[in-house]
Amino acid sequence: MKNERYDPLTLALHWLTVLLVLVLWSIAQIWDWLPRGSAPRHATQALHVSLGMVFILVLLARLAWRLTAGRRLAPPPGPPLVVFAARAAHGALYLLLVLMAVSGPLNRSAGGDPLGFFGLFTLPPLLAENKNLAETINDFHGTVATLILILAGLHAAAALAHHYLWRDGVLARMVPGLSPRDP
Ligand code: HEM
Ligand code: HEM
Repeated sequence: MKNERYDPLTLALHWLTVLLVLVLWSIAQIWDWLPRGSAPRHATQALHVSLGMVFILVLLARLAWRLTAGRRLAPPPGPPLVVFAARAAHGALYLLLVLMAVSGPLNRSAGGDPLGFFGLFTLPPLLAENKNLAETINDFHGTVATLILILAGLHAAAALAHHYLWRDGVLARMVPGLSPRDP
């Protein structure tokens, strides 16, 4: 497996997802500092929703590519429990990303706010306005965001351990230009 590598589209979609998750999470931290009801807070939330739609498109493209022509690589050889844990973590990350893509637009619609895309167009609401429901969905959306950060942190730590400790080329197959370390 030393010189195996994912295809360029898989690499691009993986790293674009990482960037969008970090940016979307950071934007949500920024508006927490802005006064409720203020124009900058609304603008920051509208930006989160527009970029959120980009995230949804990237996720759909990624799932479609993986299920069709995208290169899938077997996990590196290891104890069955470790191989299972890696597969389970990847599956859980996909599931959590899908939950974000579903709960985000529902959150926005239940809050009675428009699903706008960078001022270019607005999608019809998915739900009637319901502030109590919006609060519940928002709590869920925030909790799933935290779970993604925790799991992605463990996942990144495992990827770095593959590179620096086990030197088996797993990180290199997802990082353009990186060579596996000598064993
Ligand atoms: C992985 C991607 C995403 C991350 C990491 C993320 C993160 C967050 C976080 C941390 C919050 C604050 C939750 C709280 O108050 O406890 C939030 C709120 C929100 N997110 Fe996301 N989000 C993502 C995707 C989306 C998407 C796809 C949409 C919709 C297109 C969306 C729409 C919203 C809305 C409407 C709110 C509530 C804003 C308000 O308080 O009015 N998010 N998001
Ligand atoms: C928000 C952050 C991240 C998310 C949501 C995420 C998600 C994923 C998912 C779902 C896979 C499985 C790919 C597949 O088999 O279809 C994957 C693979 C991979 N990721 Fe990430 N990832 C994140 C951050 C990172 C970081 C920071 C690193 C490196 C430090 C990394 C390195 C890798 C590697 C090396 C693989 C390939 C593993 C293998 O071939 O067995 N990821 N990632």
